[in-house]
Amino acid sequence: MAILLAPMEGLLDFALRDVLTRVGGIDRCVSEFIRVTDTLLPPRAFVRVVPELRHGSRTPAGVPVRAQLLGSDPTCLADNAARLAELKSAGIDLNFGCPARVVNRHGGGAALLQEPELLHRIVRAVRDAVPPDVPVSAKMRLGFNDDHLTEDCARAIAEGGAGELVVHARTKAHGYRPPAYWERIADVRAVVGIPVIANGEIWHVEDARRCREVSGCTGIMLGRGIVADPALALAILADQAGADTPGARTQLPGWPELQALLQLFWQLILTHIEPRARAGRMKQWLNYLRKRHPEAEQAYMQIRTLTDSRVVDAIVQSWALVPAVYPQASATDQGASTISEDCPSTQATATPPAR
Ligand SMILES: Cc1cc2nc3c(=O)[nH]c(=O)nc-3n(C[C@H](O)[C@H](O)[C@H](O)COP(=O)(O)O)c2cc1C
Repeated sequence: MAILLAPMEGLLDFALRDVLTRVGGIDRCVSEFIRVTDTLLPPRAFVRVVPELRHGSRTPAGVPVRAQLLGSDPTCLADNAARLAELKSAGIDLNFGCPARVVNRHGGGAALLQEPELLHRIVRAVRDAVPPDVPVSAKMRLGFNDDHLTEDCARAIAEGGAGELVVHARTKAHGYRPPAYWERIADVRAVVGIPVIANGEIWHVEDARRCREVSGCTGIMLGRGIVADPALALAILADQAGADTPGARTQLPGWPELQALLQLFWQLILTHIEPRARAGRMKQWLNYLRKRHPEAEQAYMQIRTLTDSRVVDAIVQSWALVPAVYPQASATDQGASTISEDCPSTQATATPPAR
C-alpha cells in the first residue's frame, strides 16, 4: 500500500516534509504548488519551493518528492515541466484542485474541472514534454460546483497520459468540510485504467481502513491528519499488518518524541525562514498537533501570542533535552534556498498564510 504525503501550500514545505518523512511510513511527497502563468521559470524558482531538487529530489530521509505545477496553459506548463525534468524532479504532479479564488479566476486549479477537454490537452502536453521515465501524475477534486463531470475529468486525465491520479473526494464548493465522498473515488476507479489514490478526511487508522474499503484504493494520501499525528502513516501500516489492536496504539509518539520533532523543525526554521515568520510557523504546526496531543495544547498556549522568534527559541531550548529519537537535521541537510532569494514568479514569501 502506497502512502503519499499531501501537498499543502503554506504549511507542508520542505521543513515539515523533512521532519515527517524522518518519522517513517511515507512513500512519496508532492511539493506545494508552483504557479505557472506565462513564463518559463528560472531554476531557482523551482528550487525555492522544492529545495529537495538539490538532493536528488529526495528528503534527507530518502523519500522522493514530486514537484507540483499549477496553471492552465498547456504549452507553458509543458515548458516548465520540461525544465523540472532537467532538474531531475522525481516526477511532475499537476494541480487540478486548488480552490483559491485568485487561481480559479485565471482558469487554474479546480476551475479546470469544468473543462475536461482542456485537462486532456494539459496532461498530454506535459506528458509529451518530459522523458518517458519521468512520472506524470495529477491531483483532482470531484468537481467545481458539483460532481457531474468527475468521471469525464478523470478519463481526460488518464487518456492524456497521466500515470497516476489522486482524488481529493470533495468538490471545490465543498471546500474542506467533512465528509469526504470516498464512494465517488470508487466511481473514478471504474472508468480509468491507472492507479487511483484516495485522499480526504483520513485522520485516524480507522478512517484509512474505511476509506480503502469504500474507495477500493490501495494507495492513500494523507494531509492534515498526518500533520496532527506524525506517526499516522506508521500506525496505518501497523494496522494493515495486523499489529494494531484496539486501544493499543503504540505508534502514537509520546510528548518527548514530539518535542524532538518540534526541536528538529525549529532548527530548520531558524536556519531557513526569515525571523518575522518563524514564530508563526511553530504556532501553525502546534495548532495541528494540539488536536491529538494535550501537551502540544500547552505548548501552543505558551507561544500563542508571541511574535519574537528569540522568545520562542528560549522556550524551545528550555524543553528537556530530548534524546535524539530521530536523526537530527543540519543546516546543510537540504541546502534549502534561503529566504533572501528573490523569486517573484512563484509564492511571494517563505511562509504564505495558510488557507
Ligand atoms: C493549507 C492547505 C494547503 C493546501 N495546498 C495544496 C496544494 O498546494 N496542492 C494541492 O493539490 N492540494 C493542496 N491542498 C489540499 C490537500 O493536498 C488535500 O487534498 C486536502 O487537505 C484533503 O486531505 P486531508 O483531509 O487529508 O487534509 C491544501 C490543503 C490545505 C489544508
